[in-house]
Order: sequence, then structure tokens, then C-alpha cells
Amino acid sequence: MTTMEKTANVPEPRAGDDTAPLLEVRDLHVEFHTRDGVAKAVNGVNYSVSAGETLAVLGESGSGKSVTAQAIMGILDMPPGKIPQGEILFRGQDMLKMSGEERRKIRGSKIAMIFQDALSSLNPVLSVGYQLGEMYRVHQGLSKKEAKAKAIDLMDRVRIPAAKERVNDYPHQFSGGMRQRIMIAMALALEPDLIIADEPTTALDVTVQAQVMDLLAELQREYNMGLILITHDLGVVADVADKIAVMYAGRIVETAPVGELYKRPAHPYTRGLLDSIPRLDQKGQELYAIKGLPPNLLHIPTGCAFNPRCPKATDLCRTDIPALHQVTEKDGAELAGRGSACHFWKETIHG
Ligand SMILES: Nc1ncnc2c1ncn2[C@@H]1O[C@H](COP(=O)(O)OP(=O)(O)OP(=O)(O)O)[C@@H](O)[C@H]1O
Ligand SMILES: [Mg+2]
Repeated sequence: MTTMEKTANVPEPRAGDDTAPLLEVRDLHVEFHTRDGVAKAVNGVNYSVSAGETLAVLGESGSGKSVTAQAIMGILDMPPGKIPQGEILFRGQDMLKMSGEERRKIRGSKIAMIFQDALSSLNPVLSVGYQLGEMYRVHQGLSKKEAKAKAIDLMDRVRIPAAKERVNDYPHQFSGGMRQRIMIAMALALEPDLIIADEPTTALDVTVQAQVMDLLAELQREYNMGLILITHDLGVVADVADKIAVMYAGRIVETAPVGELYKRPAHPYTRGLLDSIPRLDQKGQELYAIKGLPPNLLHIPTGCAFNPRCPKATDLCRTDIPALHQVTEKDGAELAGRGSACHFWKETIHG
């Protein structure tokens, strides 16, 4: 891709702001209209990611991480899904207002997605080389031979050993880790500006997880891409993310630069997640688990959605939805990029 194409349609950066975000999700709401009622899966999500930046989105199963990603990619099932409110700005333009044709152009070539399960995302009866090459044949009109050369090149990039010999192999002939590398290669093929990786390593064992994650982080830096990394595993993101958004019941409940979130969480839910990570230095000790279950999205509790599970909940928490408060030091100094949707964030962070 030429530089010309890459910078086309880029809005003028705001004065004094050379890190205007690549993607900005604003007050996004997604609901599913089912027979049992309306499931409110996403309830006012705000997040952004810039070129070269990694945002980790964290939260238990059902918190709305994937649905948000699907809304960004434009692959939500509608119906039953519906986006009653919100904006999804890509380079300043609201993708929710674009035509199907405009969105298709962005998908794959500007924003690509890596899914959890490579085996079900790859076609079992086509060689990996064919599937990688298809990106170039379809999107760039390359010949079969040129596309195959590109496919080998991509396989080299994601460090699949003996790429030249393996280009005609089928997905089942690769290990899980290698298949996930192929998924990464597929996402990288058209050199997108942004990659959304939805639990890209969950199906892999721990050592392979780390290798795949390192590779993804390295390629992201090399290509200066934005990366949204969705996971429910806090351990996975510590080394690779710049900032974290923690989701609960379709809302962001805490946002922070990655190191700070680990050191000083400002939301009881985040604290619970951190306390439930197994640690090598605490072998043999019983792991903490957040009590209770995530809410039924058909009937989200009033007030703070986390209140029935929160050890600190008061009457206020049962009636009033907390806004995402700017988190500050004890002396009032603002902590950049830090927010907490807890009425008692001060007590939580400052103890
Ligand atoms: N097509 C659909 N129809 C009805 N409900 C849906 C649909 N897709 C998602 N949902 C609901 O939206 C909620 C949020 O789902 P989502 O997949 O975003 O969770 P998640 O945070 O990605 O969880 P996980 O960690 O399990 O992947 C869930 O309760 C889910 O059942
Ligand atoms: Mg998911």
C-alpha cells in the first residue's frame, strides 16, 4: 500500500494534537431484541485507540467485549442486534453513517480482525497458501503466482518455519499456535491501520500464548498499527498493552495506563479481577474469586451493575449509576487516562 492511500481521507489533526485517535467509539449502545426481551449488551461504551497504540479490553464473559468489536467491524447480526445510539469514528468519520459499500472497503484493508478459533475461521479444504493468497487476488488483483509468493512472504513474517514447503498444507496440518499465526498473517495481509484481536490466544497453551502475543505486539510496532486486544485474562495483557479498559455489563468501569491499573486499581471489580490471577509466589494458596455471577442483560441491576457482587456496595450503589469519574491523586492532581465508574473510587484507590 502506498503512503498516498494510507493517508487519504485523514482529517486534519487538531491543533497541537499529533495523536488524534485512529478509532474512537463514542457512547455506543447495542441491544439484542430476543423473544425474552431486550438484552442490553453494550450500554454507552467510550474508548479510543491511536496508531501504534494497544488498547486491551478486559472483562468477564458476557460483558460486551466482542459485541463492541463486531459493531466496529460492521459484522453484528442485525437483527436481532440494534445500535440505538452512538458513534464509531474511524479517522474522524462515523462508520455507522457509511454505506455498506464504504464499510466493506474498510473491513479487511483498513481494519482487520483476528478471532479466537483459527480452526473454524479457516477453510479446512483449502490450503493455507491459497487462503492467504486470496486476500491479494481478490483485493489487489494479483495473479495466482504473485499471490502465492506474497503468501509465503506473510508466512515468513509470522515465523512459520519452512514457509515455502508448507504453503500448500491444509489448516489441520498445523499446530494450534501455527494456525493462530496464520490468522495473524491473514489479518496483516492488506496492512490494515487497526487490528482487533478477540481472544487471539485463548485456545492455546500458556507458552504458545506468550509467543503468539509477543509476535502480535512486535508486528504491531513494526507496522505502527493500532491494536485492540480483547481478553478476559489480565495476565496476557500486562506486557503488551499501553492502556486497559475494563468492561462490566456493557459499560467501561475502569480505564487506565496498563502499569497503573495493576498497581492501583480504582474499581472494586478490577481489584477482584487482579486478586483472582494465579501468582507464582502464592502457590498453594486458595485463589480469590469474585462472588456471584455477571448480571442477566435482560435485567441489569439498578444503580451500579456490579453492586450485587461488590463487597463495598452501599444504598447509593443500588440506586445511582456511577459516572466514569476522573481519577486523581489524594491532593487532587489528575491521573492522565484514568477513570473509574465507582462512587467510592477514592477509597478504592487510596485505601
Ligand atoms: N446475536 C446475538 N443475539 C442475542 N444476544 C447476543 C448476540 N450476540 C451476543 N449476545 C449477547 O450479548 C452479550 C455480550 O456478549 P459478548 O459476546 O460481547 O461478550 P464477551 O464480553 O465477548 O464475552 P466472552 O468473554 O465470553 O467472549 C451476551 O450476553 C450475549 O449473549
Ligand atoms: Mg467475546
